[in-house]
Amino acid sequence: MNPRLSDRYPLDWQTYFPKPATLAVEIGFGNGGFLVDWAKRYPDWQFVGFELSMESMERAQRKLFREDVKNACVIHEDARLGLREFFPENSLTHVMMNFPDPWPKDKHRKRRLLDEDFSEILGNVLRENHCYELVTDQQWYAEHAFELFSASKYFSVDSVELNPPRPVITKYEQKWREMGRETYRVLAEKKAIAPVARLLEDSEMPHAFIEEAVDAATVKALEGFTGNTDDQLFVVKSVYEKIDREGFLLQVIAKDAGYKQDFYVVINHNSSGRWLVKLDTTQPPYRTPAVKMAVWEIGKEMNRRSGSK
Ligand SMILES: C[S@@+](CC[C@H](N)C(=O)[O-])C[C@H]1O[C@@H](n2cnc3c(N)ncnc32)[C@H](O)[C@@H]1O
Repeated sequence: MNPRLSDRYPLDWQTYFPKPATLAVEIGFGNGGFLVDWAKRYPDWQFVGFELSMESMERAQRKLFREDVKNACVIHEDARLGLREFFPENSLTHVMMNFPDPWPKDKHRKRRLLDEDFSEILGNVLRENHCYELVTDQQWYAEHAFELFSASKYFSVDSVELNPPRPVITKYEQKWREMGRETYRVLAEKKAIAPVARLLEDSEMPHAFIEEAVDAATVKALEGFTGNTDDQLFVVKSVYEKIDREGFLLQVIAKDAGYKQDFYVVINHNSSGRWLVKLDTTQPPYRTPAVKMAVWEIGKEMNRRSGSK
């Protein structure tokens, strides 16, 4: 499933799963075995899995297809963005995270998925009295999660459970159990709604007109053009001219508070001959504030540079 193609966020889940049902999420589903078993065990629920690894995406999709699972879909996206932007508040019945990469070294702390910001996203999208479930083989990680949720005013948490009985388990969990290795679980139950600022609620398509005639040298000189605010940043990496010389393609990188997107902006003229800056629609980015800023600032800069000639 490709949420980039939506013109509305949070997503309207009824268009993906027509029968209203209980919605649950697995973050970092790996080979997809757990997601498939979970979906088969609860056929009246609907499941969404997030993964960053393309190889895992392919494996899971093959499994879902082979086992004819219709109540689950997978999304190739960072779960931090996906949970915050794709689900309305109080909409998820369960969020599962099995054996996340722990990133034990302090210098890699930022890569850990579970931090205070993420717990607030969970506190927004989970339904009240429903749980985020973390299972790990790293005791310190479970203790870290326990402390995080204990300190949160949006959750209640009882203890770190040792070797919890679970109706569905992962392939490696099964192997570890057979080898006598310990697993730890933290079940954090949502008690109050956490406020969260969403980036995509206003998903207006950005564009800018260029008032003067456009010449290739002015556009090519945009390579390296950059803009930033406290939370957003963009840079024009490369500029390509179309073979027919009727327009340009700009490779742009934009970052919103750590979320990076690589995409293309086109500069060409519309049917009435006006030059226009807009997003290329081949692989559209999410229209975050940094992406919109890039389009508008490139438009402004083109007007400034063309007008001063
Ligand atoms: C250690 S593996 C565990 C896989 C699986 N849950 C299991 O128990 O076998 C962690 C998985 O989380 C995925 N992952 C890491 N960060 C992620 C993120 N921000 N959003 C979605 N998936 C992520 C990784 O690609 C990897 O497949």
